[in-house]
Amino acid sequence: MPDDGGKPQSGPIWLDAAAKPFISIEGVTKRFGSFTAVDNVTLKVFKGELFALLGGSGCGKSTLLRMLAGFETPTEGKILIDGQDMAGIPPYERPVNMMFQSYALFPHMTVEKNIGYGLKHENMSDAERADRVKMLIDLVQLGQFAQRKPHQLSGGQRQRVALARALAKQPKLLLLDEPLGALDKKLREQTQFELMNIQDKVGITFIVVTHDQEEAMTLATRIAVMDKGVIRQTGTPTEIYEYPRTKFVADFIGSINQFEGEVKSSKKGFVTVSVPLTNTEMTVPHDRDLPEGSKVAVAVRPEKLTITRKAPAKGVNAVTGTVVDLGYFGKDSLYRIKLASGALVRVNHVNSKRAGEGERVAVWEDKVWLTFDPSSAILLAE
Ligand SMILES: Nc1ncnc2c1ncn2[C@@H]1O[C@H](COP(=O)(O)OP(=O)(O)OP(=O)(O)O)[C@@H](O)[C@H]1O
Ligand SMILES: [Mg+2]
Repeated sequence: MPDDGGKPQSGPIWLDAAAKPFISIEGVTKRFGSFTAVDNVTLKVFKGELFALLGGSGCGKSTLLRMLAGFETPTEGKILIDGQDMAGIPPYERPVNMMFQSYALFPHMTVEKNIGYGLKHENMSDAERADRVKMLIDLVQLGQFAQRKPHQLSGGQRQRVALARALAKQPKLLLLDEPLGALDKKLREQTQFELMNIQDKVGITFIVVTHDQEEAMTLATRIAVMDKGVIRQTGTPTEIYEYPRTKFVADFIGSINQFEGEVKSSKKGFVTVSVPLTNTEMTVPHDRDLPEGSKVAVAVRPEKLTITRKAPAKGVNAVTGTVVDLGYFGKDSLYRIKLASGALVRVNHVNSKRAGEGERVAVWEDKVWLTFDPSSAILLAE
């Protein structure tokens, strides 16, 4: 143990190099014939995390989850759960439960029976079993529906039955494959918070697969962004959003404007990029010196651009163009600005002051300037 002067350890567990991961995925590859579905993935997940695997359709999320559950065998690499190598261990002997996207509830059984089903063969008395089921029904707030059958429930209620059933055997690790996939947007948001509350109460480790980036951002302690079987970046929602390391991750998470250009000079933690598309130079912080001429992109989120009708002072990072779209959403407005090159830039303007139609910061056809602080931009080199 490091000498910390007796102070309680602070900071997230994944930054503690000495912390023991609960799940350790080490160089795992899965091939189906000549096709590589999961490509040399290495990942550590810690106890109590709500970890999200995020990526587009077919990128290998479910395959990775199925290997954790034991339904697929890695072609290469190994998986340890709680320090134990999972090679050769069948699904039912792993401290893991998996909730499938289809929920797979038994249609002829009541909510109560569905939840208690997995406890049938557990070594517990009838009273203990009934207590456990009652506790789970309360946890997912289905008390009044205990005697209903799945077809008498809404999608969100069925989802909660599936969750309660998956939690019944008190697994140390719960794998959820698109748990909210069948719900509409509103119910989805509400259920996301329920899922977080439940996870907080039961304290077990969750790995959630989703292709919905907002969902991952809301739910997760950390996110791994997957693409074509590879993990492109792992980090907290803030890290992934504010500091994407590649163009792929930047584009995948939220929307972002990317100004392609070439490094003109690089010094003291700042890189100056000449951007042909806007015929300007932009200076942004970067931790590495990059050789002159390197192809890079300056990436700026729409909410980090300031829109004005007045030309900015020299030396300020800026582009100019014409307002071609304006969407008013009450609390904010979304502008699309067309540059001379034809490229479109998205700007999110928060309507912090109440303004009438004529007083908006800019309207259609206006010629405007978009400026941004160097610290609000990211330099993407790959
Ligand atoms: N049993 C299999 N045999 C052959 N190919 C498979 C098999 N299972 C998955 N694949 C392929 O592996 C790739 C990854 O599949 P996977 O189900 O892991 O994707 P996913 O990220 O979960 O996608 P989605 O978001 O659509 O569910 C896909 O191209 C899929 O066709
Ligand atoms: Mg899948």
